[in-house]
Formats: sequence, structure tokens, C-alpha cells
Amino acid sequence: MNAFTSRLGIEHPIIQGPFGGGLSSVTLAAAVSNAGGLGSFGAHHLSPTQMREVIRDLQSATAKPFNINLWVSRYDPGAEETTAAHREDGLRQFGAIYERLGIEAPLMEPPDDFSFEEQVEVILETRPAVFSFVFGIPDVGILRECTRCGILTVGTATTQEEAAALDEAGVDMIVATGSEAGGHRPSFLRSAEQSLTGTLALVPQVRNVTRKPVIAAGGIAEVRGIRAAFQLGADAVQIGTAFIACEESNCPPPHREVLFTPSAARTQLSRRFTGRLARFMSTALLDELENSPVPALPFPLQASFNHTVKTEGVRLGDSSLLPLYAGQAALLIRHRKASELMGELITSLR
Ligand SMILES: Cc1cc2nc3c(=O)[nH]c(=O)nc-3n(C[C@H](O)[C@H](O)[C@H](O)COP(=O)(O)O)c2cc1C
Repeated sequence: MNAFTSRLGIEHPIIQGPFGGGLSSVTLAAAVSNAGGLGSFGAHHLSPTQMREVIRDLQSATAKPFNINLWVSRYDPGAEETTAAHREDGLRQFGAIYERLGIEAPLMEPPDDFSFEEQVEVILETRPAVFSFVFGIPDVGILRECTRCGILTVGTATTQEEAAALDEAGVDMIVATGSEAGGHRPSFLRSAEQSLTGTLALVPQVRNVTRKPVIAAGGIAEVRGIRAAFQLGADAVQIGTAFIACEESNCPPPHREVLFTPSAARTQLSRRFTGRLARFMSTALLDELENSPVPALPFPLQASFNHTVKTEGVRLGDSSLLPLYAGQAALLIRHRKASELMGELITSLR
């Protein structure tokens, strides 16, 4: 028992990181929670109705605590509406790729008709044990309401300064996510490019500014990383890439397969697939986009141009067309089942 496990009433200080944009699954989150860790579901892209369905499914799949994750900021400045200039810049980046694949340019979708606040209403109504968030800090009224409803709040810091702001705002626990991590760099006080502290340096910096439980994320895929994180002052770890590789995740199979190949050795940070900085395996497609003289569009407009390429990649089973999210620890991955990964971590921690 430590400050993290006792607060949640769970056995093991291991969180399966949430995956937004469709890679989370109820089966994966429930498997991790049922094994005594904390399963998570990334719901930032879901409407309130879809969120209610997922949470209902999770409640049927596990009686143990689980975590629902949202993005506090869902649009970059300038992305609230799509202009002709956006479309032109999107086509200048993606036009040759669409032509080569013989696919149509996407119709520009209107923005989602739901807000972060409406998504939070579902959290307050359904009361998951944990509500974690990235890309900012919810209003104090939301944090207070979560406390009143018995929901633990978990904020995410990419720098010491963000951790201090989360602590000051009154969140219950803080994820310290180093730049090794897979997925987006969820910075909110400075640009993501200015917030690239690695896990080894970040965890003790966050420990120094808060007495709350600290959760280390980024670059952890096996027991050596967990032990190192505890040594640095963390109370728990959040593991992402190693769980994406498990068959219970909703990762497209060609993406999962490359995680087990030597290509997993080369990852890079890029704004080219979504408009926000995220870590992916390096591919010829990403190189081509990075070489475009036209800058990436703001989030989520850039993602809407990439969406059709991704859909074609899934249809063809072609990993070279997918945004291959992966962290720097990908080469350490060995397990294809969440129960086996959890089993090994738990046994080795004893
Ligand atoms: C594909 C993908 C999507 C992710 N989406 C989210 C998200 O929506 N919200 C979030 O808090 N973290 C998200 N993450 C971060 C993970 O939850 C976790 O913190 C991170 O992957 C840990 O680093 P690792 O990949 O080195 O294990 C995502 C990670 C990946 C790989």
C-alpha cells in the first residue's frame, strides 16, 4: 500500500494510460482494473451520449475503479472554423498523397457540437472513481464538484511549473509525463516544444513541488522503469505504449504489429498528423509531411486532412499510411496480452 493505492483502494500502483481518438477499449481498461491496476479510457473525442455508453459498458465489465480521461482544451486557437485558406494549406500538404492513393480530399466537417463542460457533466453524473485530464486545468467549480461526488481528479504536467499550477488548483494527483511518452505532449503553460523534459528529470522536479501522489509516465514498459520511477519519488506509473501493443487495445492490427519490429526503435515528435505535437514511429509518410513548406494546421484541422489517409491505411492494412503512435520504450515491449503484461509487472514488483 502507498499513497496512490490506498487513496484508490486498488492493489497495484500501475495505470494503463488513457488513449484518445479511438485506441482505448472497454476490454483493455477492464482487464487492467480487474488485475488490480487502474484501467483508463480516453474519451475526449466522444459525445456525451457516447461517453455514457462507454461508462455503462465499463461498469458492467468491472466492479473495480477505472479512469475516464478528457482534454480540457479541445481546439487550438484559429481552429474553431474552417476557412478557404485552411483548405488550401491542407491540400498543399496532402494533395499529392491523396492523388497517389486515389482518394478524395475530405469534406471539412463542422466542429463538434459538444463542449468539454458537457462531457464533464457526464463524468459528474456517472461518477467514475477517477477523472484524469490533459491540456489544462478545469475550472475550480468542476474540481470542487468532482470532490463532492467522490471522484478523484488527476491532472497532467509536462513541466515543474505545470505541476505547481495543478497542485495549487487543488487536483488530487499529478501525472508527470516525460517527453519519451507516446501520444500527444499535453503542455498547457508553454508550447509543447518548450516543454520537452524527460521523465528522469521531470519526476523528481514534480515531487519537489507537491505532496500529492505523483504518477510517472513516459518511457516505462517493464519493471526496471517502474522501480526507477519509484526511486525518483513517484507513487505510481502510467504505461501507454506497452498496453497499446496488447491485443485488447483498439489499436489497428498493422500498427500493433510494427510495435514488435525493429522500426519501433525510431520515433519522433511531430505536429503533422494532428496539429498538436505527438510522438510517432518515423515513416516515409511522416518525412514527406515534415518536408512540406506549409506549416501544419491547428488541431484538429490538421487531423481531419490526415483522417482520410489513415482510413485508407486501415482499409488496406498498410501501416505505412497510419499515424504510428509510439513512445521511446517501444523496443522494450514483449507482451501481447494485458493480463500477461500485468502479471509480469506484478510478479516482478514483489
Ligand atoms: C495513441 C496514444 C494516445 C494517447 N491519448 C491520450 C489521451 O487522450 N489522454 C491522455 O491523458 N494520455 C494519452 N496518451 C498518453 C498515455 O496515456 C500515457 O501517459 C503515455 O503513453 C505513457 O508513455 P509511454 O507511451 O512511454 O508508456 C496517449 C498515448 C498514446 C500512445
